[in-house]
Amino acid sequence: MASFKDKVVYQIYPKSFQDSNGDGLGDLRGVIQRLDYLKDLGVDYLWLTPFFPSPQKDNGYDVSNYCEVDSRFGTMADFDELVKSADEKGLKIMLDMVLCHTSDQHEWFQKAINGDENYQRYYIFRDGRGDNEPPTNWQCAFGGSAWQWESHLKNWYLHLHDVSQPDLDWTNPKVREELANVVRFWKDRGVAGFRFDVINLISKPEVFEDDTEGLGRKLFADGPHVHEYLRELVKNSGIDGMITVGEMASTDLKNCLLYTRPEDHELSMVFSFHHLKVDYKDGDKWSLMNADIHELKKLFEEWQVGMSKSGGWNAVFWCNHDQPRAVSRFGDDGIESAKMLATTIHLMRGTPYVYQGEELGMTNAKFTSIEQYRDVESLNYYKILLEQGKSESDALKIIGERSRDNSRTPMQWSAEKFAGFSTAEPWISSPKNFETINVENELRDKNSVLNFYKMLIKFRKDNPIVQDGDIEFIERDNDDVVAYRRTLDSKELIVICNFRNSEVKLQDRSLSEYLAAGYKKILGNYESIDTNLRPYESIVFSLN
Ligand code: NOJ
Repeated sequence: MASFKDKVVYQIYPKSFQDSNGDGLGDLRGVIQRLDYLKDLGVDYLWLTPFFPSPQKDNGYDVSNYCEVDSRFGTMADFDELVKSADEKGLKIMLDMVLCHTSDQHEWFQKAINGDENYQRYYIFRDGRGDNEPPTNWQCAFGGSAWQWESHLKNWYLHLHDVSQPDLDWTNPKVREELANVVRFWKDRGVAGFRFDVINLISKPEVFEDDTEGLGRKLFADGPHVHEYLRELVKNSGIDGMITVGEMASTDLKNCLLYTRPEDHELSMVFSFHHLKVDYKDGDKWSLMNADIHELKKLFEEWQVGMSKSGGWNAVFWCNHDQPRAVSRFGDDGIESAKMLATTIHLMRGTPYVYQGEELGMTNAKFTSIEQYRDVESLNYYKILLEQGKSESDALKIIGERSRDNSRTPMQWSAEKFAGFSTAEPWISSPKNFETINVENELRDKNSVLNFYKMLIKFRKDNPIVQDGDIEFIERDNDDVVAYRRTLDSKELIVICNFRNSEVKLQDRSLSEYLAAGYKKILGNYESIDTNLRPYESIVFSLN
């Protein structure tokens, strides 16, 4: 399997990246217009979230035709041009395969509910339990039962996400064959890699029963045949050796090792999300609390060391289209915290992912009214929170922190109207700070977040120790910092990141002791070195 250790992936949410035709929606030609920017940033792969025909109930993760381009995003000719133009600049395209479920508007589902038994076997239909009761108590990801009553067929279908996203039945070999053909279709069009959406949810339990402890997740994540199905998909679509990343919901280390060990021919790397739940009170996304940095460190250590010990590989990331902006969540919306967070991730062992706008320090959306939100999950949960008795302002505060729309606001290209994203009113609005946080400004400023990202991306490419070095965590009892040592042969890198908006002390060894022992500062977000770490300071020492 090829190595991706020196590579960096950039995630594009096409709907919010660049509008080329003035309809307020980003599109594929918009991506083509911005390829020079991406090349200059230094990234290698561009992962595009779904642009396939879709009713857009879940912004394209409800696919109604896997092998076409939605006319809102352009044409197949635009896609081919994107692959070709990117290739000319040394950039490769990765696509998002949503193979756990389709849209209810997909031809397969439509045939199923209109009586075609062949297609009924593509989905998971079950009888309920007596009067109006679904087959199990499982809950879907966006709130409410994971089962929907189908009035034509007089039974229930499973949807682990929105009601418009029926789950496919992977036990049916015909389904697996169809999906392998979809992946092969895009591979044959010049796609270099794939991201697989919630791929660890494809194998459902043998017996469908109530979850007596939770919402069902534990019962259907990393199911009994998931590894076998993945190996078969990779083989039958002909993508072995290409860059692939699986999005893993509620997974564990043991399974992620199996997903990514090269000898198993499943995936090159995984997204796991435990580190992005450290601010969920009692594990509940909709209960606010400050991030628990002690827990964050523990999780980083467990996944970094655990995966590397047994030959697994992590995707390392803070942001994506489902997460609030890291700089608002773990930082203070400011430049130093954006740079510190970038340092924490980019020098770890794994492949870094940059989500559009993260490289500028783009912040949460700062919406003030529920009318500004578009996301199905946010709108559902706003209702649920009100039903639970929360006041409108409390519900709005929670949505303001946790909404996926925080990361879906238009890319901030300039201080022009609509942030240089479009000439028309965009489908979702921008925070006011686009007037200062934008590409045009940051290209001009040598101390900008953007230039810091460029430097970090290049640093990985120039330094085998970042790509391949071992990792060990230090300052383990210090709850203010995340710090680790990378080693390769006789070389050493020490990465220290202060997660507090205040001055903090190191416990294992002070900054001056590092200097006295011959370590040199080679990177940081403050110019000088002080006695203690300053607010959100990150500092990297090297020793040869
Ligand atoms: C994960 C995707 O990232 C998210 O945006 C989507 O809603 C769900 N999977 C369902 O496809």
